[in-house]
Amino acid sequence: MCGIVGYLGNNQATPVLLSKLRCLEYRGYDSAGVAVIEGDRLNIIKSAGKLSNLETLLQQERPSSTIGIGHTRWATHGSPTNENAHPHTDSTGTFAVVHNGIIENYAQLRTELIEQGYVFTTETDTEVTVHLLSREYEKDQDILGAIIRTVNVMKGAFALGIVSLKHRDRIYAVNHHYSLTVGLGENESFLASDSTAVRQYTNKIVRLEQSEIAEIKTNSYRLFSFDGTEAFREPVSLNTEPYKIDKEGFKHFLLKEINEQPLVLRQTMSKYLPNFSSNPKAPISFNVERFSADSSEGVYGVKMTDNEIKSIKRIIIVACGTALNAGMVGKLVIEQLCSIPVEVEIASEIQTRNILADESTLVIAVSQSGETADTLAAMKAAKAKGAYTLGITNRPDSHLAQIASNLIVTECGIEVSVAATKTYVAQLMCFYLLAIYLGEKRGSISQDHAVEMKKTLHAMPALMEQILAREEEYKTLSLKLADASDVVFIARGVNYPTALEGALKLKELSYIHASGYAAGELKHGPIAVLDSAVPVITVLVPGKVYEKTLSNAQESRARNARMVAVAVDGDEMAPETFDHIFRIPPVEELFSPLVTIVPLQLMSYFVADYLGKDVDQPRNLAKSVTVE
Ligand code: M6R
Repeated sequence: MCGIVGYLGNNQATPVLLSKLRCLEYRGYDSAGVAVIEGDRLNIIKSAGKLSNLETLLQQERPSSTIGIGHTRWATHGSPTNENAHPHTDSTGTFAVVHNGIIENYAQLRTELIEQGYVFTTETDTEVTVHLLSREYEKDQDILGAIIRTVNVMKGAFALGIVSLKHRDRIYAVNHHYSLTVGLGENESFLASDSTAVRQYTNKIVRLEQSEIAEIKTNSYRLFSFDGTEAFREPVSLNTEPYKIDKEGFKHFLLKEINEQPLVLRQTMSKYLPNFSSNPKAPISFNVERFSADSSEGVYGVKMTDNEIKSIKRIIIVACGTALNAGMVGKLVIEQLCSIPVEVEIASEIQTRNILADESTLVIAVSQSGETADTLAAMKAAKAKGAYTLGITNRPDSHLAQIASNLIVTECGIEVSVAATKTYVAQLMCFYLLAIYLGEKRGSISQDHAVEMKKTLHAMPALMEQILAREEEYKTLSLKLADASDVVFIARGVNYPTALEGALKLKELSYIHASGYAAGELKHGPIAVLDSAVPVITVLVPGKVYEKTLSNAQESRARNARMVAVAVDGDEMAPETFDHIFRIPPVEELFSPLVTIVPLQLMSYFVADYLGKDVDQPRNLAKSVTVE
């Protein structure tokens, strides 16, 4: 979703701002702009559409300035037009503001400001900020005071970048339930809503805490809380390599990330199950570690004591989208191995309910970005009830990492493509490891059983490599489905979430309507949509639910649906029911979601690419969904 950047120093600001905006592109956006202080004016250049549009304008205008802010906007209030693009300015052209998030009381503030004579020129909620700043600054010419008074009347979660003609030596940044990072270089400073965009330039960073304001100058910074109290925090020097954003020869980031999945599984396992080959009986270790890649100097790992783990009576998993599907697999595995009741909740739904969580509840929030507003709100609501909290995220520098008491990090590197793939399988791996970990601690599984399961997990990356080697075969099969306008995915048990995730991937990437169903539910309604135009894709793995799933597929065949399956090599029953089969090597049912999703990811990719869709940045989608 929206991204904020800022620069001040001795170099030209716009090339730096543009390059930082490129780093944030993957978050998803539909317009972009910059504001630089050029001579005695604020020069605001912005455009709807891709960054290339902004780049063209910048090449034409060539603004000369060493201080500015920039933004990629994902439209919430008002369509993605040039006017609604950020930055926004006040009627005197004194302030420019970029904004992430939503100002929930903007309508009331807007009415109040209009009554006071302020003229609005956009449909955005953001514009109230700049008029409020202007109004408050008029009172005493104290810019910090004006910012403090402004943010104190705004409700919601937001981050701001501010420049002012009256104070040409500084940028202000405001963080309120968002993420913002300040980077400190040699005679230059940087601002970005994602530390990736700062790491290109410097490894010395300050992450803003919640409800904090930063005054950033070329060689210094000051931090203030919303009541004006100054805070003193040293910057942190990161010792990790900056993320590399490179397609490495693949046509798209998505294809690269699908192919990285075996590596991601290996990395995640070797982190939490080190030395398994030499000592298969070694326990899973979610040891607490100092986290050096984050200025919060936090720690991560599972910090609950054995007694606390034994005291858990209930688990609630909260997440959205793909992470929610991973959570559904997590539920089945934890229930099976630990005999703890687990509920999976759509984060946007649970947060406003009376969450039935208490001191014996563990709430697990799953989020690739760690910035998903709904997931964070659900986690905070559960935390307020006294529940234990555990975050599973790919971003140890995220907001989720700050608020979760326990943290498991998926070892994926940055995921650039908006559609989640490698982070999904890494989340699944974390759930398998967590379930075995909890099961061993609670005594619900034996050590021998745990060792067997760890062996199975260890074999998964190689299995996945065998599947990826069938890419060409899958491509041929996939293109047979590219003419469909509706696709149904069915499965049972542990692969029901695979059906949901398969449908989500196809929708996101190809814009073909797709739905996933528990196979047994098909006859309770969805079967009405079936005819010879509708492919029904069945995920079928030998095990507890095989026969019943096959029967449900046959019900579809009897309605003349186009029959497609993901089925294992050697399944001789499958050809009787299915016209097209994505074959995978035999796999144990409980762990099969780790690999059954791979042909479906590839299928969605091939169909979307064939249809000419924007594979890495599908329309309307954002990678970090930072509004509720
Ligand atoms: O960053 P998160 O994992 O919290 O994001 C949740 C969803 O927005 C995300 O999984 C979304 O569904 C992806 N586009 C899936 O490909």
